[in-house]
Amino acid sequence: MFITFEGIDGVGKTTQINLLKTYLESKNKEVLSIREPGGLSFSEKIREILLDTKTEINSTTELFLFEAARSELTEKIILPALNENKIVICDRFYDSTSAYQGFGRGINLDDINYLNTVATQKLVPDLTFYLDIPISQSLNRNINKVKDRMESNTLNFITNVKKGFDKLSELYPDRIKRIKADDSIDQVHQNIIKHINV
Ligand code: TYD
Repeated sequence: MFITFEGIDGVGKTTQINLLKTYLESKNKEVLSIREPGGLSFSEKIREILLDTKTEINSTTELFLFEAARSELTEKIILPALNENKIVICDRFYDSTSAYQGFGRGINLDDINYLNTVATQKLVPDLTFYLDIPISQSLNRNINKVKDRMESNTLNFITNVKKGFDKLSELYPDRIKRIKADDSIDQVHQNIIKHINV
């Protein structure tokens, strides 16, 4: 089973992923949790480039770098783990590219969909949790954080990214579960595990 978590920055994905991992392990499941971009030394290096505020890259290069990191992670980590019947939880996957590089940067969505299928060898998550909070709240949660390159984008960019996630969850309601993430940590966790059948 392949589960992904999505949403704008500061929605609490990491906390919820850790809680879900613990929950699944309490049911005797073997769980691998990873993050995108990253999860592998090659991909972590790409992550560093992508998030470094000193990096100046155009949107297309940015897109290719996210896909490059994803291609390595999919082939070397995700597919082998799924073949061993592990549950894989990934902090972001290709929906982030559709939302950030597509809706955010304005790159053609058909092109992005195509590159997504190439990078992932057509792997589709079984379940995606879109953690949804108002933008004002996500900005508040990040207020004391040193911002990386992606977090330094304009409010207009974040607004478009959020619209992207909203739209994706409408387009794929069977796969993408939109979870109201401004409730208590435990309430959000309970709403997540309602969708988990183990
Ligand atoms: P994330 O790991 O959520 O950042 P952090 O650990 O700092 O919370 O994601 C890194 C950033 O990269 C985030 O701003 C979203 C962005 N991103 C894209 O723009 N496109 C992508 O395909 C992915 C996977 C992430």
